[in-house]
Amino acid sequence: MSADSGTGRFITFEGIDGAGKSTQIAALVALLRERGVDVDQTREPGGTALGERLRELLLHEPMHLETEAMLMFAARREHLAARIMPALEAGRWVVSDRFSDATYAYQVGGRGLAESRFEALEAWVHPGFQPDLTLVFDLPPEVAAARVAATGNAPDRFEREQRAFFARVREAYLVRARNDPGRIRVIAADQPPATIRAQIEAIVVERWF
Ligand code: TYD
Repeated sequence: MSADSGTGRFITFEGIDGAGKSTQIAALVALLRERGVDVDQTREPGGTALGERLRELLLHEPMHLETEAMLMFAARREHLAARIMPALEAGRWVVSDRFSDATYAYQVGGRGLAESRFEALEAWVHPGFQPDLTLVFDLPPEVAAARVAATGNAPDRFEREQRAFFARVREAYLVRARNDPGRIRVIAADQPPATIRAQIEAIVVERWF
């Protein structure tokens, strides 16, 4: 059986840097395509030409915390208007590497942005709209840091943060998940990739197929 054609779904992946989202996003997109779903894979910050330019600034340019939060939401506004909403309205599914839960976790949890600021931006940019399903990859910051270091890539502004920062980001994701358990599922990301893949497949298939 396949999901209703004509009904777009919005699935987001979240977690601290080094949680191993990329492999699993690729696996889920492949699975959905095998089942005949028309999927648009995207990411934040980014996903549009303008959003990718904002991403460059966000990842590398030092800036005030509120500037950072507003630029995340500016990129998101464009992403929603130019890509996410048109795809969903056309009945396509959208799988995004991060969305607003990341701003809650990193800017509010990690950096200490006032929650009221986050809520104001979220209510402005996507009132009443949330992903249909969010998968939060949860693992200890020290495991994640070792994975980031193992890539050998130069770390960006976020990846250079201290362990305590990622502990706060992790906790903020878990708080958000506790407050919205129907939408947000927490995945133990320190399991073998094949196990994680099977768990995600089970969640998605149970929900929609
Ligand atoms: P990500 O795409 O996961 O980085 P990578 O390509 O290195 O895997 O995310 C980029 C960074 O942006 C990540 O450190 C988290 C951060 N971020 C925020 O701080 N707030 C946000 O709202 C978003 C979307 C991302």
